[in-house]
Amino acid sequence: MTASNPPIGLLAEITHRCPLRCPYCSNPLELTRAEAELDAAAWARVLEDAAGLGVLQLHLSGGEPTLRPDLEELVAAARGAGLYVNLITAGVLLDGPRVRRLKAAGLDHVQLSLQDSDVDSADRIGGFKGGHAKKLAAARHLREAGLPITINAVVHRQNLDRIERTVALALDLGAHRLEVAHTQYYGWAFANRAALMPTPEQVDHARRVVDRARADLRGRLVIDYVAPDYYAKYPKPCMGGWGRQVLTIGPDGRTMPCHAAHTIKGLAFDSVKDRPLRWIWQNSPAFEAFRGTDWMQEPCRSCPRKEIDFGGCRCQAMALAGDARATDPACSLSPLHARLHALAREDAATDAPFTYRRMLPKDRLPEAPPALRAVEDA
Ligand code: SF4
Ligand code: FES
Repeated sequence: MTASNPPIGLLAEITHRCPLRCPYCSNPLELTRAEAELDAAAWARVLEDAAGLGVLQLHLSGGEPTLRPDLEELVAAARGAGLYVNLITAGVLLDGPRVRRLKAAGLDHVQLSLQDSDVDSADRIGGFKGGHAKKLAAARHLREAGLPITINAVVHRQNLDRIERTVALALDLGAHRLEVAHTQYYGWAFANRAALMPTPEQVDHARRVVDRARADLRGRLVIDYVAPDYYAKYPKPCMGGWGRQVLTIGPDGRTMPCHAAHTIKGLAFDSVKDRPLRWIWQNSPAFEAFRGTDWMQEPCRSCPRKEIDFGGCRCQAMALAGDARATDPACSLSPLHARLHALAREDAATDAPFTYRRMLPKDRLPEAPPALRAVEDA
């Protein structure tokens, strides 16, 4: 099936380098080195192509995108191409002059990540001492420059009990929006499942806190909530459906239907170094692999929800079922769903240390736990 619509959003992971070491990082276990990154001129060409293809929003991400000294050039190129420019940053490298330069280059919006509301815990989770204080300072610079801020709070067992304080901190920092997103378990997070998985009680508590805060803070703070589908009835329509709305370009130009698609074995990703972006969106085998519904197996194939959630998340199906074509085990109709629940509870009761994200040679990458089917067959 070929693309019927243009993509709306482009996630540009302009570098995998990062001063933080979050154990839930969604970057690949094998990170791209600085020497392989596209330069500013190549990105400018790609951004022009993206706008021509119909992309409206650019999300500049990483790693840590502010590590690139040419970030202002990229922002200006995106703005020149008519894109809305959002920067997704940990904020630890943002001082006042840099913020003002980025604003002058055309930056529209900033998503600032928080690891926790407690300083010691935040620094421990991010693996960067002093990081939390730098984020608070960055928020002040952003506010002074008049840039709208969304706080990104990735939540898990080790910070969920302080969710009320995270909401209060987002307000104090002058954010207009807070995204509370439960950890998505693939890549580094999958390897850290036993350290991060929340208990069902924590998940219930978080839901109640968010519902109450939404009502109390109406008109002051918008709260988006990405629920943990390990404990849900149906999965999320991940990426709005594979190859339907968004695309991701990695630091070296490889282009993927989602930021975790590298976890799916057997997919090869075309690069903007070799192919026009339009061709990749419309024809690349990786984009075609799970587009539409023809690829589905049962129970998705005959399910009335198949064009609502598109069978859930392909990366989660790969990680958990060992097969990216399988029904996402987060779905209650998946034959693996009960095992997933049992495993989530087991992980939530395990006190495992973090495996921090690091640039590691291939032979020293962390081992991910086995897929459910493999566990079942053992
Ligand atoms: Fe969605 Fe497939 Fe579950 Fe139906 S069976 S609800 S299409 S994941
Ligand atoms: Fe890749 Fe869901 S994260 S499809």
